[in-house]
Amino acid sequence: STILVLHGPNLNMLGTREPEVYGHETLADIDDRLRKRATDNDHHLLHLQSNAEYELIDRIHEARAEGVDFIIINPAAFTHTSIALRDAILASGIPFIEVHLSNVHAREAFRHHSYFSDIAEGVICGLGSQGYELALQAAMQRTHR
Ligand code: DQA
Repeated sequence: STILVLHGPNLNMLGTREPEVYGHETLADIDDRLRKRATDNDHHLLHLQSNAEYELIDRIHEARAEGVDFIIINPAAFTHTSIALRDAILASGIPFIEVHLSNVHAREAFRHHSYFSDIAEGVICGLGSQGYELALQAAMQRTHR
């Protein structure tokens, strides 16, 4: 299957951005590991990080045309703000898992609401970069090769 991993704003700063909250790994470390794991299991992994809402939306539209089977998304701050990104993913009809590195429920109240959780197959938060790996494992199990 083809699995698309989407990372929202500021996640390009991973490794240096509040490492006590988000860890020391870079986004490239995470994406490389995910791609290897997917390839080892005969799946195809695509990924995009963007700080721009419209780029993530456009990528989701393309994903539908491209036949992407599953999306793993960390919408970052757009989690708490973006009806447009929610609508894009609904329009795509592609099943997805929402991932957050930090435990958003243990943080500020404005991080407790997500525009994605109620329409996600599942939600993983607070497990750091391992959350992406667990999401990938679930995505691979839920899709056909
Ligand atoms: C985040 C949590 C969000 O609240 C925050 O805006 C982020 C990252 C996480 O992975 O923990 O940018 O999605």
